[in-house]
Amino acid sequence: MTVSKAYADLERRGRIVRRHGLGCFVSPAKDGNREDEEFGTGNGGRTGDWKRDAGSNYGNNGEGERGQSRIPGRNTGQDKTGTRKRFGWQEDFEDYLPRAQLWRNFDYSEAEYSFHLAAIHSGLLPLKEIGEAMTMLVAKRPELMSAYGNFQGDLELREVMTKHLRTRGISLSAASLMITSGTQQGIDLVARTFIGPGDAVYLEEPSYTGAIDVFAGRGAEMISVPMDEDGMRIDLLTKLCDRRPPKLIYTVPTFQNPSGATMSMERRQRLLELARSYRCLIVEDDPFSDLYFHSPPPPSIKSMDRDGHVVYMKSFSKVLAPGCRMACVAAEGDILERLTAAKAASDLGGPLLIQLAVLPFISDRYDAYMKGLRSALRSRMERAAKLLKRHAPQGVKWRLPEGGLNLWLELPHSVHVGELYRRASRLGISFLTGNVCHVGEPSTNYIRLCYAQMEEEQMERGLLLLMPLLKESMTGTKR
Ligand SMILES: Cc1ncc(COP(=O)(O)O)c(C=O)c1O
Repeated sequence: MTVSKAYADLERRGRIVRRHGLGCFVSPAKDGNREDEEFGTGNGGRTGDWKRDAGSNYGNNGEGERGQSRIPGRNTGQDKTGTRKRFGWQEDFEDYLPRAQLWRNFDYSEAEYSFHLAAIHSGLLPLKEIGEAMTMLVAKRPELMSAYGNFQGDLELREVMTKHLRTRGISLSAASLMITSGTQQGIDLVARTFIGPGDAVYLEEPSYTGAIDVFAGRGAEMISVPMDEDGMRIDLLTKLCDRRPPKLIYTVPTFQNPSGATMSMERRQRLLELARSYRCLIVEDDPFSDLYFHSPPPPSIKSMDRDGHVVYMKSFSKVLAPGCRMACVAAEGDILERLTAAKAASDLGGPLLIQLAVLPFISDRYDAYMKGLRSALRSRMERAAKLLKRHAPQGVKWRLPEGGLNLWLELPHSVHVGELYRRASRLGISFLTGNVCHVGEPSTNYIRLCYAQMEEEQMERGLLLLMPLLKESMTGTKR
């Protein structure tokens, strides 16, 4: 039996229990079967309630030993700042987002060489311009802070955003757009509006960790679809859907996070046809399409959508100012109305001040800025790739990305990724371990390195430190 089948079986039997901050455990069998006890403390085999079990196969450290994670710093409850209090009773106080603990269990605070976030170094972002616009607004229009904005977002900003969507082949009016606090909120709104316990959500394998968390929190049944260099394998998706019809398909078709793959045009069309035949939703998450290095990527799936199947999301925060949390969601008909209601229920509309602060930049400067950003990122990617080519040990594989922020490295199976992570973090190096990009977090031999998060020289120094470590991990030598 495969590990994932065993897991699914245990989950069906209500045998997976989660200890907050410690991970997931197999509970002792009701008949007292002792074989399970070595796997963890458990808490008495509570079963049945989707809320308890929601996503219980996520956030698991995957090693089955009393909260010992294969990822160091994880599930340890360490708090290096010493400011986080711990209360015993809270350990058993259940939440509905088991996997979202990922972020609190990775401690990246001391990373000198940060490769872990898909983020752009602040020196490349137009923070000064946006900051000045913000200061001006606060001084000249302080009343903005006293107003709730429109639930759908500021109309003028939405109108400006329609212009940018046209570059992705999407011709929609401002009435079909909603502004959200980043695409992360967009994914959350879709999930809370349309996904309930047991609904089938298909997604690429590997996929964006933050989306897995959200769907897990809704109790979705997540079904992973393998990918290749042309993106999600639609032939396999079709077969899987025949067995279990989809409610929603989540995809990052362009410069996918983490793999960097871009879905071919033919697959985009087939995916849309499939959604039509199953009358389901596609979430097209598109944070990276402006970050191409050579030629623009294929048009969005949304650009071909005639029946309102696609909810398209474009992040502006990622490329402008992540702290401003700015994205737009494009959807049509009833779907957008329901999402707007969810947005109102979530936060009564995004902050008007921030929307108006980013507006002038998105309106007038975005295209020229993007040109410069693309070339800066391309240069970083090429420098990173050059270093890897020269210093990566034999057996390490990667594909040169055509855009986006990440390198997705396949390591030889002899490398224990958790151990590599532990040793790298001792040198102040952080990266994303591939397992968190999978539903159920199986052991994998992939890591994701973001080449955009640091100054170029710092990034290079980090890679030069990491490569010998990688070599040692392959040969089993210890420092
Ligand atoms: C694929 C993907 N979707 C969504 C997000 C969240 O982006 P935002 O900052 O717009 O919320 C990220 C962030 O890394 C991402 O990689």
